[in-house]
Amino acid sequence: MDPFIRDLPKAELHMHIEGSLEPELMFQLAQRNDIELPYGSVEEIRAAYEFSNLQDFLDIYYAGAGVLQTEQDFYDMTWAYLERAKADTVRHVEIFFDPQTHTDRGIAFETVVTGIHRALVDGRDELGISFRLILCFLRHLSAEAAMHTLEMALPYREWITAVGLDSSEVGHPPEKFRDVFDRARAEGFLTVAHAGEEGPPAYIEQALDLLHVERIDHGVRCLEDDALVERLREAQVPLTVCPLSNVKLRVFDRIEGHNLAHLMARGLKVTVNSDDPSYFGGYVGANYEAVANGLGLAREDLVTLARNSFEASFLSDEDKAAYVAEVEAYAAERS
Ligand code: HPA
Ligand code: ZN
Repeated sequence: MDPFIRDLPKAELHMHIEGSLEPELMFQLAQRNDIELPYGSVEEIRAAYEFSNLQDFLDIYYAGAGVLQTEQDFYDMTWAYLERAKADTVRHVEIFFDPQTHTDRGIAFETVVTGIHRALVDGRDELGISFRLILCFLRHLSAEAAMHTLEMALPYREWITAVGLDSSEVGHPPEKFRDVFDRARAEGFLTVAHAGEEGPPAYIEQALDLLHVERIDHGVRCLEDDALVERLREAQVPLTVCPLSNVKLRVFDRIEGHNLAHLMARGLKVTVNSDDPSYFGGYVGANYEAVANGLGLAREDLVTLARNSFEASFLSDEDKAAYVAEVEAYAAERS
């Protein structure tokens, strides 16, 4: 990897922790927990990652998460991600977890959240990576199930900064979760939502108007609606864009056709993220590198993306300023 990209201080704001589970660890956890996987080897798992749309990916992703049983499993998965993030000079992470993927298989909410949180604390203390945790509701399940999940999260609210919305987008618009998000905000959670990945610009509008989100996850389809672009620009609503994910799931056919440079040119607050790095072919550094090479971004564009990643985070203004100063110092030293 280009050392300039590798060493550029950055934050990652759109990463599903279950999507960081590498085949090697999946295989190891299956053995440790005596779970039968439909694959005989790590190579077979990797070979199964042949999807070209969101739903095919999600089917494999939910199956893979079935190896996670104990608090230590969630710890090990999260720790492995943090070590990868460290290698890409990620200084701050805001990661998603999908509790329903686990509670629906009989794993306690406490087991999931405690394992992840413990690894995040150790990552802060040992790797110097600050963190926030975001609970995602699975939008293909009911609003009632989401509300029940929110209630399970209330005892852990000190550990969970925000709630989000992921899984199959089309047919499950943000409005379906209006009451759940109202309750979440009343309980003190910030909100985000996946919108405008496979779904239309109207879903982005709904996420803003009905869910009052602080950021839009993906949001790349906003360019189909000029008034929406103007609104996103005016309010500087961050978009957490995931370039390699978008290519793998065929939101764009090739990286050269990705609209990230257009989003930036329209004045939008764009960030670069990995989404599900084990499944989509690269961690956050590889995503920066893909857009740098595929779209011919200049170093100053990469610096803007890194600066945006901290400014779009849920850190305090003071912490944001300190990280942005790190980015500026890094850029100045190398210009
Ligand atoms: N989109 C929707 N849901 C998801 C994704 C994604 O890219 N990754 C994990 N859950
Ligand atoms: Zn995502």
